[in-house]
Amino acid sequence: MKNLGILLSGRGSNFEAIAANVASVKIADARIAVVISNRTDAGGIQTAKRLGIETLVIPSKGKEREDHDREVVTALQQHQVDLICLAGYMRLLSPWFVKQFPHKILNIHPSLLPAFPGLEAQQQAFAYGVKVAGCTVHFVDEELDHGAIIVQKSVPVLENDDEHTLAARILEQEHTAYSEAINLVLNREYRIVGRRFLS
Ligand code: GAR
Repeated sequence: MKNLGILLSGRGSNFEAIAANVASVKIADARIAVVISNRTDAGGIQTAKRLGIETLVIPSKGKEREDHDREVVTALQQHQVDLICLAGYMRLLSPWFVKQFPHKILNIHPSLLPAFPGLEAQQQAFAYGVKVAGCTVHFVDEELDHGAIIVQKSVPVLENDDEHTLAARILEQEHTAYSEAINLVLNREYRIVGRRFLS
């Protein structure tokens, strides 16, 4: 049984999709050991409580990045986490944090990386006028939205889309992409050649 640790800062819909897939064993042989938020007001924390999953709020405000990261890493270690899933965790991890868990941290980003890293990726893509948008699940390395790509899903941009309708269709794909990626990493043999994830 593998222990997942979820880090989030907000609504938590990706976390909820992962939790549903763990419960229905679409993600096999795993449990969510802890959900950690850096924000007291994160909706995802309420959802986790409702689902009976252990939660922790470790506020980041006013702390040096690495000091906060040390608290989070200690909590993850106490919960014997095997894989960490960033699910709308709107904080850059320090290089120190990343080094503690080599190839054990995943992130989801709402664009087809390497296009549109950073904040409001869906809006960036819409404003740029791309015809195909999407989402990416990737390993976290020391650079923003950068590590080896595990799963990508594309989403066509429609004539009558606005940035909200587009973001909603991307989010639907995020909810399946993340669980697919978790299954690949936990339950399949894989290797990484250069930047290429092969399973
Ligand atoms: C998701 O769209 C996720 O891809 C994005 O934040 C949203 C969180 O939604 N993450 C990033 O932009 C990270 N760079 P959720 O809280 O409902 O899962």
